[in-house]
Amino acid sequence: MTLPVELLEDLRRRQEDIRAGGGADKLALRREKGLMTARDRLEALFQPDTFQELGAHVRHSGRFFGMETKVLPADGVITGTGYVGGRVVSGFSQDFTVVGGSLGKMHAKKIVTLMQEAAKLGTPVVAFKDSAGARIQEGVDALSGYGDVFYMNVLLSGVVPQVAVVCGPCAGGASYSPALMDFVVMTRKNAYMFITGPEVIKAVTGKSVTLDEVGSADMHASVSGNVHFLAEDDAEAVAIVQKLLSFLPSNNSEDPPHRPTADISLAADDGIYPLIPDDAQMPMDVRGIIDRIVDPGEFLEVHRSFAENLIIGFARIEGMVVGLIANQPAVRAGALDMDAADKGARFIRFCNCFNIPLVTLVDVPGFLPGIEQERGGIIRHGAKLLFAYASCTTPKVTVILRKAYGGSYLAMCSQEMGADFVFAWPTAEIAVMGADGAVRVLYNKEIKAAADPKAKAAELAAAYRAEFASPYMAAGAGYITDVVDPAITRSTIALSLRKALSKREVRPPKKHGNIPL
Ligand code: HXC
Repeated sequence: MTLPVELLEDLRRRQEDIRAGGGADKLALRREKGLMTARDRLEALFQPDTFQELGAHVRHSGRFFGMETKVLPADGVITGTGYVGGRVVSGFSQDFTVVGGSLGKMHAKKIVTLMQEAAKLGTPVVAFKDSAGARIQEGVDALSGYGDVFYMNVLLSGVVPQVAVVCGPCAGGASYSPALMDFVVMTRKNAYMFITGPEVIKAVTGKSVTLDEVGSADMHASVSGNVHFLAEDDAEAVAIVQKLLSFLPSNNSEDPPHRPTADISLAADDGIYPLIPDDAQMPMDVRGIIDRIVDPGEFLEVHRSFAENLIIGFARIEGMVVGLIANQPAVRAGALDMDAADKGARFIRFCNCFNIPLVTLVDVPGFLPGIEQERGGIIRHGAKLLFAYASCTTPKVTVILRKAYGGSYLAMCSQEMGADFVFAWPTAEIAVMGADGAVRVLYNKEIKAAADPKAKAAELAAAYRAEFASPYMAAGAGYITDVVDPAITRSTIALSLRKALSKREVRPPKKHGNIPL
């Protein structure tokens, strides 16, 4: 058959119109501002020539405000699949040049169809959010569209990884879609996210606030905790997504992309010693320890500037993908507070969904004392961490570096919380509470009655330390797998992880647990 030339010309013309989005001038303006277009973002994400668009010809269904005659290319959202790091990924990108990337019923349907396909194919979903929100002209149909997207976000939660890149406006209820996804990357350039913006806040409360105060990427990354990764611009955001996906399985029925080495290096690492302070009371920067444990260049910190007293991130150790959780004694002495507990618990639950083993590095003096913490619900928040660790059935390796006091000893994945291996350095201190606090409870009267109460308290604390400031009491009771030389921490974790990979743990069936929220 000879295909009539007009048919091909017609197809090409339609394709060009769709690719032009809101028009050449609007696309050029974005690029002038240093912003990628919606298509640029997908092109940057996917390997060259692997993107296949779905539903490019879909038309909007608006019937009011003169919409009947309006043509909206791709209905303001480009959806499709491509390859990232050799694996298929589903992606969509809202096009702000087409009626502000606003979401109408068909725009939403395209997103939902993509997500349904992602569930069937078992592919991660990456969403570039650049939208003025519900398309006003479509009224309740637009709201319904949002509902459809939220429902799919929830349906896919725990089935395939979902990553949102907030790279433009994300206002009102629209911000719930990123919040329902697993990870949110946000660009400093051009992006803001809030439920109610400055004008509404002023109208309702009378208080003047700036856009940055309520919705900037920096605020969300460091204060609200809504954002996991901060990017300067679109290009950096894409690079972060690519790196993140390199640690994740495509779906919950796969293992993460481990790259096991042929042999595990068992050489001792003496370089770790200088990082451990001589004085147990001196804070230790756990980042230095993490650097010595993980494979070079294979650590992606999550939530870097939020609740910095707890460090979380994905890493490889001798090629094995792990979710790493570590107290950071250099910040608030590493004490656990509400934000740290929320941060850790959500991360652990993600790792459990996607078969990622956990490595926990413990150096924690306890839960942060204070009226704000108690009134804010530290009990409820701290319980999330316990709940998350105890529910996690992936391999769990814990290393107690120094302090592990009280409830926080349990909350950082002790044997009782289901750790498969618990190693301790000889510097580990495991007790109900620190020496100074303990002697004040145990010997309050004796201290008060002493000629020199301060000296008496110090003497008693020293005796308490001699008894408890070692891991051998816990090891003697069988709570510790082994006490290890810090120099073999990396190889000990690596060997344990390899052995635990075949772990299968069956729990009683239930609809779902009731994690304290
Ligand atoms: C339809 C919209 C739109 C909307 C903007 N546009 N918002 N069209 N529905 N919600 C159109 C504009 O008419 C314009 O069309 C184009 O998009 C670009 O908008 P501008 O205003 O020119 O751009 P800019 O100056 O950059 O301002 C961007 C903006 C502003 C700050 C986002 O447009 C704005 O405030 N829009 C309204 C935002 C909003 O209130 N959304 C509803 C949120 S409530 P032309 O043809 O001129 O290019 C919500 C409910 C969701 O989303 C609930 C879910 C549960």
